[in-house]
Amino acid sequence: MVLVSGSGTNLQALLDAAADDAFGAAVVAVGADRDDIEGLARARRAAIPTFVTRVADHDTRVAWDAALAARIAEHKPDLVVSAGFMKILGPSVLDAWPVVNTHPALLPAFPGAHAVRDALAYGVRVTGCTVHLVDAGVDTGPVIAQEAVAVRDGDDEDALHERIKTVERRLLVEVVGRMAREGWHAEGRHVRFGRAEK
Ligand code: GAR
Repeated sequence: MVLVSGSGTNLQALLDAAADDAFGAAVVAVGADRDDIEGLARARRAAIPTFVTRVADHDTRVAWDAALAARIAEHKPDLVVSAGFMKILGPSVLDAWPVVNTHPALLPAFPGAHAVRDALAYGVRVTGCTVHLVDAGVDTGPVIAQEAVAVRDGDDEDALHERIKTVERRLLVEVVGRMAREGWHAEGRHVRFGRAEK
């Protein structure tokens, strides 16, 4: 299942890939932390069940996290993909499912909600995207895959982010597909495709 907060173009890439049975994974549901976003509309157009669990509807972040976990559990996913989901997940979710996140920078550089803006402000010549497992920190979990994107003179945040997202969508689809088809295991900070040897 996929969690979104915005336009959902990464979700769309997963939906498009999953339309082919050979992909090996299906999107069983799409969850969001807010209403009226294109990500939810994309899911509805694909006839995928959706739900919204808003932080503001809960007294504490802990209660929100538990409510989110309850909604996710209804769909019995093997994997949760955070694709532009702009909230920090808590232990109710993280202890129940492996969670993969896509981030628009080469972690550990530029974690957080403004990665593209921060990379531009720093003046790096190369940035990119990272697909990683989510742990309790902010963008600190084990890296699964990364790809570089060059910064061009005159780039603004939107232009650079769009070029990153073009790469990011392909990388996320590749990673989720391989995890589904080949299995995966973590060895400390290293994530390998293929099932762990018993
Ligand atoms: C993506 O670039 C994703 O990496 C980023 O939001 C964008 C969502 O695009 N996520 C973060 O910045 C998380 N810190 P999308 O809604 O079109 O898939």
